[in-house]
Amino acid sequence: MSSIKTHPVPARLLDSAQCPTPFVNSLEQYKSMWTESVEQPEKFFGNLARELLTWSKPFETVKHGSFETGDVAWFLEGELNASYNCVDRHALKNPDKVAIIHEGDEPDQVRKITYGELLRQVSAMANVLKNLGIRKGDNVAIYMPMIPETLIACLACARVGAVHSVVFAGFSAESLRDRVVDCGARLVLTSDEGRRGGKNIATKRIVDDALRDPNAAALVEHVVVFRRTGSVVPWEQGRDLWWDEEMSKARTVCAPEPMNAEDPLFLLYTSGSTGAPKGILHTTGGYLLGAASTVKYIFDVHPEDVYACMADIGWVTGHSYILYGPLALGATTVLFESTPTYPNPSRFWDLIQKHKITQFYTAPTAIRALRRLGDQWVEGYDLSSLRVLGSVGEPINPEAWDWYNEKIGKDQCSIVDTYWQTETGSIIISPLPGVTPTKAGSATLPFFGIKPVILDPTTGQEMKITSDEDTGVLAITQPWPSMARTIHNNHSRFLDTYLKPYPGHYFCGDGASRDSDGYYWIRGRVDDVINVSGHRLSTAEIESALVHHETVAEAAVVGGNDDLTGQCIHAFVSLKPGVEQHDTLEKELILQVRKMIGPFAGPKRVHIINDHPKTRSGKIMRRILRKIVNGEQDQLGDISTLAEPTVVEALILKVHN
Ligand code: PRX
Repeated sequence: MSSIKTHPVPARLLDSAQCPTPFVNSLEQYKSMWTESVEQPEKFFGNLARELLTWSKPFETVKHGSFETGDVAWFLEGELNASYNCVDRHALKNPDKVAIIHEGDEPDQVRKITYGELLRQVSAMANVLKNLGIRKGDNVAIYMPMIPETLIACLACARVGAVHSVVFAGFSAESLRDRVVDCGARLVLTSDEGRRGGKNIATKRIVDDALRDPNAAALVEHVVVFRRTGSVVPWEQGRDLWWDEEMSKARTVCAPEPMNAEDPLFLLYTSGSTGAPKGILHTTGGYLLGAASTVKYIFDVHPEDVYACMADIGWVTGHSYILYGPLALGATTVLFESTPTYPNPSRFWDLIQKHKITQFYTAPTAIRALRRLGDQWVEGYDLSSLRVLGSVGEPINPEAWDWYNEKIGKDQCSIVDTYWQTETGSIIISPLPGVTPTKAGSATLPFFGIKPVILDPTTGQEMKITSDEDTGVLAITQPWPSMARTIHNNHSRFLDTYLKPYPGHYFCGDGASRDSDGYYWIRGRVDDVINVSGHRLSTAEIESALVHHETVAEAAVVGGNDDLTGQCIHAFVSLKPGVEQHDTLEKELILQVRKMIGPFAGPKRVHIINDHPKTRSGKIMRRILRKIVNGEQDQLGDISTLAEPTVVEALILKVHN
């Protein structure tokens, strides 16, 4: 790794004639702030929470609880409302400032919503929720496309103290049903259809399918439907209500509910190694501080900036970096409904030029795909407004990093490779623009309050690092404000997954190394989670979708390396006795997963095999499958523990012929 080039901070970013002075502008300043943040977190975060957030009742205790006891809490006595912090306080001072720029699916569909207008809309929607009987602590599921109303829905929930649970609109009816039932949603907010890449998506129909389940139907009292396309959709009288009709009845003033800092703000489901998806719970004060402070320091957002995050609101990146972080700071946030290649692969660059975007945040998969399509799609666009380019969701390979830096950033921007997770609430390892020299592929240094450590997975002790390549598991040694507090209705699963594997630490689930400059290099998941195009998927969930198919006896899913999507899904399936393999079976099984989880979870390959490689006690050795799909069949190691070592040869032939 020593041969890896270090990129200094571009001089332009530190030249006040060209760019606003970064909030942190030297490595020394970062180091002294970081040291204070981990050694005196009460002082550091107490000050930051008073500076960045508005409290209706001040907190007295900054930090409470521990990893050992699993009762982490921040700003305990404090009261605040997230919607007040994201909307009112900016609307009162600066009502005409644009809060949201919505770039619709078609490039000519642009809507700008000012803070003043946002306040009226959020207040009206909050009154709609109240009229429907939604109160503090109730759960509301949101299954909506990338439109301003989705942000309004979240903020309206926050305003009345309801806990929103946004479900990514690419999830199937069955996945939506599971989430609605698990969170006990009383209300579902949706739209007639979605629009993406020139196509209509049957959003309301998927909600209807999900609610046909008696458990879901028993919970959900109403479905409020926003008209996105105006198409005719199925309707259930009494249950279904039109968004615009309810809004037109509602007053546009609504007092925000005072919330305790530790009251839940939202649930967001994510995949783990085993079992059902986990409803990760984030609370109001600590989460909002994490989102706001990382947007301030990692994206260096100044008042005149136009900040754009290309994630979907259905994932945590959308929550923290489209919605809560930028709006808490009173910034202008871009909400993008389309895809990077619609109507052509210049869409991102057109967007940046059109809105003079200053910070742009996307995923390595998109960067790799656009790089592959050729530089001609970038040429001729004025990208000079950009200062910070962010990457998130998966490790970024050096070729993609270099392309992003040279072709998009013109060597004049900070590249921030931001490492974090649904559970961390906000970015935990990242360069700071104007501060951190960067290396392609490294997330570099910890954010304020984060004290990472690399543990030896066999001893659980801190690893003795003797070379840049030494890899252990990444853990965090002390609580930080925006960390998840629990898994909905399953605190013991929360403790078992994150806090008990390495007592006294939060366990991230990723492998990592640290180089001689103290930079962190994330090596990918060490559990049974696969990361496809930045989408986090559980092998267990995909396996369970496959065995639901009538022909399947047993399924094992592993991640393969993929140049475009980072990882891809390989499924190894054996059939029930007497079932004949036929030409379309592989396709059918892919469809089965798409239908049960969502189109983004479809395996790239389904290998139909006679036998899985199993130990004598009957456990499938996925390690062997992983090596075979990644072309490492010459490094299988000891296979003598297999019940039937000869199956390996058949598997290699199957995959590589
Ligand atoms: O494996 C890491 C990877 O994404 C996982 C978290 O996924 P999720 O909860 O869906 O959140 C994605 C967006 C924050 C992590 O455990 N990951 C995320 N960012 C990076 C990353 N891997 C390498 N580099 C990153 N910058």
